[in-house]
Amino acid sequence: MKTTELFAKKSIDTLLQEAESLNSQGLTRSLSVFNLTALGVGAIIGAGIFVLTGQVAATYTGPSIVLSFILAAVGCALVGMCYAEFASMIPIAGSAYTYAYATLGELLAWIIGWNLVLEYLFSASTIAVGWSEYMASLLQDLGIMIPSHLLQAPMNLPAMFIVALMTVVLIIGTSKSAGVNNFIVVVKVGVILLFIFLGIAYINYNNWIPFIPENTGKFGAFGWSGIVRGAGVIFFAYIGFDAVASAAQEARNPQQDMPIAILGSLFISTVLYICVALVLTGIVPYQQLNVSAPIAVGVNALGSAFRWLQLVIKIGAIAGLSSVILVFLMAQSRIVYALAKDKLLPFQFSSIHPQFKTPHVASIASGIVAIILAGLLPINLLMELVSIGTLLTFLMISIAVLILHRTQPDLHRPFKTPLVPFVPILGALISGVEMLTFSIDTWLRLVGWILLGLLIYFAYSRKNSTLNSKSELQAESEPITSEGV
Ligand code: ALA
Repeated sequence: MKTTELFAKKSIDTLLQEAESLNSQGLTRSLSVFNLTALGVGAIIGAGIFVLTGQVAATYTGPSIVLSFILAAVGCALVGMCYAEFASMIPIAGSAYTYAYATLGELLAWIIGWNLVLEYLFSASTIAVGWSEYMASLLQDLGIMIPSHLLQAPMNLPAMFIVALMTVVLIIGTSKSAGVNNFIVVVKVGVILLFIFLGIAYINYNNWIPFIPENTGKFGAFGWSGIVRGAGVIFFAYIGFDAVASAAQEARNPQQDMPIAILGSLFISTVLYICVALVLTGIVPYQQLNVSAPIAVGVNALGSAFRWLQLVIKIGAIAGLSSVILVFLMAQSRIVYALAKDKLLPFQFSSIHPQFKTPHVASIASGIVAIILAGLLPINLLMELVSIGTLLTFLMISIAVLILHRTQPDLHRPFKTPLVPFVPILGALISGVEMLTFSIDTWLRLVGWILLGLLIYFAYSRKNSTLNSKSELQAESEPITSEGV
């Protein structure tokens, strides 16, 4: 096997032609800028704010969780600009995988695609388990008990149900899915705003003092190192803005709308997160927040007049988690579709439903795997793995932008990452530093996942890849040409 084959690249022109022909055969451009931004907010706001905030404040940061949120947001915004450049320039379904195919070559593109599977599929399943907990608790409030053995691995029925439901919604149509997502996003953002506005009046400023609790002598336990460690963990709360890029092929006006949707959804979520963090640590001493439903603890602190708000918060959390599952399953099916289109996965996964115009086979396959994982997984096991895998993708995308600016400076870029090379370099650096805050176990799991991906690549994808089929190999494995990247 020649090394050049492993690093064979697709040219940007080929990618754009493919996008054109695929749109004429199948996927339709139906998503408006509002839909796309709502997809971003739908994917971003979920378990991070409803579950992780309290644990991070109580164990790493105290009130300075606000600074962790800002640090993580800066890293995401830098990478978000790189995504925005690629998504407006190459508006097709594969997102980061496709960008890497054009810049870093097939092997690294496969690794990114494989990491995206980790991000979307495992998040969707993990979050479904959180959804099941909130749903069981809401039903209990309404007097309906679900037997506990039906709420646990290996048979977490509500978790399996929500994944199945969202898979069906996705198959029925992209604009219908976007409509469902818009509704859910309005509910969850409304509930979060309600918490913020009702909570403001109850802030006790003493709870913010000291704003940065003194480090206990251990790296990451409060102080400045706690803020960095907290940013690594809370990064999970921002995952999802990148999922917008995987809908690029279904965007009405991707050149203009993708950057707005990616950066806009990130901005909206950041503002909401900072406000929630300020209110929450203002109304409850941070030491009391080490629970899996911290917002509920915040509502309790508002007093008995606000009992009704508990129910509303649960509905908001259920809505929040539902849209994360929906958008991640959507992104997951588009990645599988793109991998199959390039024959790195079996070609059948790239078929488009004649009536619904959605990649139904990829959606069904993704849904089945996610249902099995949702039934089997204990929550939390994979959140850190998902984060580190996503950070690796972010790091590689930042490098890809740098490469493309060097190799093809004159390409038409409807959105240009500002201050190249600083923005991508800083994006890569922050992603790298956040990766370093994870435990050795998480690193080992990441290595295990990548090794599994390499096994599949060398056993199957490599031999079947369209790009490396005889006709194309000749042209593409040449050193960089004016057409190749
Ligand atoms: N950002 C998503 C969440 O917090 C993954 O649930």
